[in-house]
Amino acid sequence: MKNRFLLVCCILFLLSCSHITNIKKGFKIGPVLQVANYDSTSIMWESYAEDTGFVRVASKKDMKDAKIINDTITSKIHKVKLTDLVQTTRYYYQAVTNGKDSPIESFVTAPSKGSKSPFRFIVYGDSRVAPNIPYLHLIKDSKFGRHEDHMSVSSSIFSYSPDFVIHIGDFVLSGLDLEDIYNFFCIEKELLSKVPLVGVYGNHEFKGGYSEDNSHMDDYLIPPEGGTFSWYQYNYGNVHFLILNTSAPLSPGSEQYNFMEEDLSSASKDLNINHIIIAMHKTIFSISGHGDSKNFIKNLIPLFEKYGVKIVFYGHDHDYQHFIKNNIHYILTGGAGAPAHEVRREKYKTTEGNLIKYNPCLNYVIVDVYGKNLELEVRKVQGNGNSASAVVEKIDI
Ligand SMILES: [Fe+2]
Repeated sequence: MKNRFLLVCCILFLLSCSHITNIKKGFKIGPVLQVANYDSTSIMWESYAEDTGFVRVASKKDMKDAKIINDTITSKIHKVKLTDLVQTTRYYYQAVTNGKDSPIESFVTAPSKGSKSPFRFIVYGDSRVAPNIPYLHLIKDSKFGRHEDHMSVSSSIFSYSPDFVIHIGDFVLSGLDLEDIYNFFCIEKELLSKVPLVGVYGNHEFKGGYSEDNSHMDDYLIPPEGGTFSWYQYNYGNVHFLILNTSAPLSPGSEQYNFMEEDLSSASKDLNINHIIIAMHKTIFSISGHGDSKNFIKNLIPLFEKYGVKIVFYGHDHDYQHFIKNNIHYILTGGAGAPAHEVRREKYKTTEGNLIKYNPCLNYVIVDVYGKNLELEVRKVQGNGNSASAVVEKIDI
């Protein structure tokens, strides 16, 4: 009964998304929280009509002490940064656009750098669905790939109340397809209006290869320090995160490689940092669709090992895989709705990684940070509108 109710909600929700073009005012997308720092966060939304918009932010739910933060440009897509916030504090906010108020939502700022306060984040990715597209039928063992599968995962993640989520890329099938982007944010609306998103570029964000001209996603994603969304680093408490863009050049000598080496070197010496975690999209080790990446194994792993990286999260293949090599955990969690990649290419069954666990399921990874300890719980989700989930694996680091 509960599953049928969820399925009906999914259908009604998607129908509402598909008819939004009939509405002329108000919120087309969002508001969406992005990148919770200890003293700031950003809010993105898209309105039907251009305006300058603003955000009310308050320390109390009644909003009586609200401050108004105005958008700096007139546009349909709005990115408003809230600054001068206090660490680990709940704030209430309300975006206003085209004369319409969003619901009052809230978020909690990050602990300051070096803080040992416990926190929880969830990693997921490859939510790009592929309903009714021709090639879906060519993947004979494919499962999932429907909006209802993505909704099941998003709903399940929301039930675990993370402090933030990391999406490791392939949000959409095509970063040039605005309807695809709208559908992603419609499905994630409940989660991302309350839980800040940390984004990672996947290859599907760029239709026709990596180029700003080949994607609209950079209009919707916000890096923590401003500038163009691509690769970046940020700290949350005692954890340092390095976000890589595996669609951009990443070989030794490239701008991104130099940034990565400098960043990892710095973080490894920082006494406030207990854990270095990488989030990227394309596979390093994999026994399914895309297999191992010889280039990443050769170029990236030596730096990861040199600078004491604990975990490398990635997706690209649509299943769950866990490898350990030289004390680094490589976790493939590309199961947020895209068609499942069964192990179907014999040549990829051999891998340079040490495979600990494989499961071709919808999935995500809960990470609880307790000072120097990391407790991971991988959960598989039923799908097709059913958000029931079960444990795949628990990992203590
Ligand atoms: Fe991908």
